[in-house]
Amino acid sequence: MKKIIISAVAKNGVIGRSTGEMPWHSKEEFQHFKSTTFGFPIIMGRVTFETLGKPLKGRLNIILTKRSNFNYNFDEVKIFNTLTEAYKFCEEQNFEKVFVIGGAQIYKEALGTIDEMLISIMDFEADGDVFFPEIDKNIWEVASRDRRNEFEILTYRRRK
Ligand SMILES: NC(=O)c1ccc[n+]([C@@H]2O[C@H](COP(=O)([O-])OP(=O)(O)OC[C@H]3O[C@@H](n4cnc5c(N)ncnc54)[C@H](OP(=O)(O)O)[C@@H]3O)[C@@H](O)[C@H]2O)c1
Repeated sequence: MKKIIISAVAKNGVIGRSTGEMPWHSKEEFQHFKSTTFGFPIIMGRVTFETLGKPLKGRLNIILTKRSNFNYNFDEVKIFNTLTEAYKFCEEQNFEKVFVIGGAQIYKEALGTIDEMLISIMDFEADGDVFFPEIDKNIWEVASRDRRNEFEILTYRRRK
């Protein structure tokens, strides 16, 4: 099962605000995110899920929390206490891919476990205080670039 990080990152590394709201709204980027992840499980931190407010449609929404006995009243949501358990569940369901969709804490934790990263570099800097973790260029290389109107999608793969 391929494990993929997907993220939208402003030119200055910002991915969000600790107050919850997204610093920008790009329909084009949202469409790219939706079409890429549709039909596959998406793993996210509890904070990101709460900023979304409800599960994203057409995808199994997996939420990570360290709390025990944590629950949401949504049928299409699964909750796990570790990334390892979340991956194991997806493997058992025979998914071909799983997407790690953030936020910063979960990206940081997942960086050592994933096969690929799809990073949309937005064409602007953003006002925020949550950042994508540092990408170690000794480990990751840009395998391809895909130019869109408002951003460029960089596909990172592990160096051989
Ligand atoms: N631009 C983008 O592509 C993008 C994507 C996603 C999110 N965001 C932004 O990112 C921000 C949220 O990021 P964040 O770093 O504050 O929070 P987060 O990563 O979404 O969630 C953090 C929470 O996840 C749980 N957690 C963390 N590590 C865990 C582990 N190893 N095992 C189990 N659970 C774990 C904990 O939940 P408990 O406290 O319940 O234990 C922790 O408080 C928001 O501003 C959001 O808008 C941006």
